[in-house]
Amino acid sequence: MRSSALLLLCFVALGINANETDAARKRWAESPHGLLLERILPPGFEADMLPEPASRGAQLTLRYCVQCHNLANPAMHEARKWRSIVERMVLRMQGRGNMGRLMADMMAGVEAPAPEDTKLLAAYLRKHAQKALDPRRYPEVNSPAGESFRRACVQCHVLPDPRRHTAEEWPAVVARMQKNMEWMNRVVGSKPLPGEPQLRIEDINAFLIRHARR
Ligand code: HEC
Ligand code: HEC
Repeated sequence: MRSSALLLLCFVALGINANETDAARKRWAESPHGLLLERILPPGFEADMLPEPASRGAQLTLRYCVQCHNLANPAMHEARKWRSIVERMVLRMQGRGNMGRLMADMMAGVEAPAPEDTKLLAAYLRKHAQKALDPRRYPEVNSPAGESFRRACVQCHVLPDPRRHTAEEWPAVVARMQKNMEWMNRVVGSKPLPGEPQLRIEDINAFLIRHARR
């Protein structure tokens, strides 16, 4: 192992990653485009919530995926979406992505992973990905009883499999998602706008609890 790689490992072991995250956060927060970047992903998903935190995949996610926005949760997207998202993000890190001007301003100090690490990153995200709801298994999702859930919970990612959580767990997840929605300024039940679907949190929780993992 090269000594620089060894040094890096020591830093990681010493928890220097947390400082890197802070430094990255500061950089994008201070960018003239900070407001836009801040809205890309909500806060609240922190380093210590990553699955298999000691794995190389988790370390790479912490290293590369906080440079422009808040940390992404691997469970946000289903497996088949991650590869293309990682590709899109890595192009940006290399300064070859869309939003060129905006990203060029931020490029000073932004690092891109080597191809080998890009593969590991994508594999890690896929391994801990969201599982999509199978409508054949839950036909109720297409009935009126599933409407609030169907409309609210598909806006940012696939409809999640209700068996991901127990009946006890779901309300807290739904409450966090409400915060995510407020954060991203999308449809929130409390502030109806003309033409937007009315979200009924009780209906969403009821649907998920009916089909939750036992
Ligand atoms: C160079 C800056 C930059 C880095 C580094 C970066 N992203 Fe992004 N990311 C963006 C921008 C800009 C957007 C908003 C536009 C878009 O969605 O492509 C975004 C959006 C996202 C989204 C929300 C869009 C969606 O499809 O849900 C996710 C998830 C995401 N990034 C994950 C990641 C992951 C995982 C990494 C690390 C592999 C990463 N990002 C690294 C710039 C970056
Ligand atoms: C505004 C965008 C947005 C909407 C709308 C949204 N989510 Fe999410 N969801 C996220 C983001 C961002 C994450 C990853 C960060 C996190 O876990 O908070 C996520 C992650 C998840 C996860 C995986 C993490 C876990 O704790 O299991 C589940 C399950 C989930 N959402 C369920 C839902 C449900 C149910 C709804 C509808 C009430 C919903 N989401 C609506 C943005 C959204």
